[in-house]
Order: sequence, then C-alpha cells, then structure tokens
Amino acid sequence: MKKLLIATHNAGKKKEISEVLGSIGWEVLTLDDISLSVPEPEETGTTYEENALIKAKHAGDISGLLTIADDSGIEVEALPGELGVYSSRFAKSDEERVQKLLKTMEGQTKRGAKFVSCIVIYDPVTQMHNSFFGEVVGKLAEEPRGSRGFGYDPIFIPNGYEKTFGELGNEVKNTISHRAKALGKMKKYLQNYN
Ligand code: IMP
Repeated sequence: MKKLLIATHNAGKKKEISEVLGSIGWEVLTLDDISLSVPEPEETGTTYEENALIKAKHAGDISGLLTIADDSGIEVEALPGELGVYSSRFAKSDEERVQKLLKTMEGQTKRGAKFVSCIVIYDPVTQMHNSFFGEVVGKLAEEPRGSRGFGYDPIFIPNGYEKTFGELGNEVKNTISHRAKALGKMKKYLQNYN
C-alpha cells in the first residue's frame, strides 16, 4: 500500500484525513507512527500556504516520505487580520480561545466568520509541492454548544445549519468543512499520483 505521512501529532486530523484517503488505497501515517524524531518547525509564514509548506517540507525531508501538512484558521469578519493564520496563537488552549473570542465579540452583531484550510503535499524525491484550498462560511454563536470536534467548533455555525460544528459532529463536518473541501481536491490529485 502506498504510504502518506501527515505532518501532525493531532489524532483528530489523522482520523479526518484517513476517513477520506483510506478509500483510495493510501496508508496514512502521522508523526507518532514513524520511528524518527521530527521536531516541530517554527511556523514563520504569513499565509496558510507558507506555513503548510514549512511543515510538509520539514517532515518530508526528514522521513523521505510523501508528506502532507495543513494549516488552517478561522477568519472573523468583525476582527480583520486578528485570527486567520494566527488562530492558534489567539490564546493558550481551545477553551481559552473560545472564551476569549466570545468575550471580544460581546455585543457585536456582525458575527460572520469562516474557516479556511490549505493542504500542501510535498514529495521529498522530486522536491515538488502542490497546494489545495477549502473554506466553509458561517457565523459565530453567542455561547459554546456541543462537545464534538475541536478548536473553535463549539462556536461556529456553518451556513445552512442552526447547530454548531461542536453539535453537528464529523458526519456533517466531514462533508462541508474547509479541510474536507481541500482534502477532496487533494484526493482527486492522489488518485492519479504514481
Ligand atoms: P492549525 O492549522 O492546526 O495550526 O490550526 C489553527 C487554529 O485554527 C487552531 O487554533 C485550531 O483550533 C483552529 N482550527 C483549525 N481548523 C479547525 C476546525 O476544523 N475546527 C475548529 N477549529 C479549527
């Protein structure tokens, strides 16, 4: 079976990505599945694509495996430039990030937001890379709802739904999310990859 490394320690991301790619005959590994030590590179990019490439190239060059990495974030209409590529640095933990964002948005009626994802695939043999993008548009809830998913999921309501990603869970999220859309494009690319 062809092997693909995901440059992450996040088991949630492995599950999400394996569910999409398992069906086309790729064995998906994470940094926890390989015996090499891959220290986390500094994400010095100013775009999702730059950061995803930094992570994919770093892990790909150390492992010698075809490697993918994603970088993602939430963009809040009322807070331009504040989250985005810097979403994970907004506060220390998922819970603190959610609480801080809700507090910052208190009294704000403009609640539009979107998740954006960029997935980069990097081949250490050819040193070529390709990028795939996806986004999901919605709005921020007034309080956290639901315990499924991770990150900002409990306060993100995708357009066309009343519930948050935290309530909807992976059955729905995996069909409409930013990462699912980017992954769908990458899946098509991998189907023709030799
Ligand atoms: P990274 O791409 O793993 O660096 O994630 C960037 C930030 O965006 C983290 O704080 C995540 O919590 C948040 N994020 C990215 N994707 C999602 C998602 O699907 N749901 C909730 N939060 C997300």
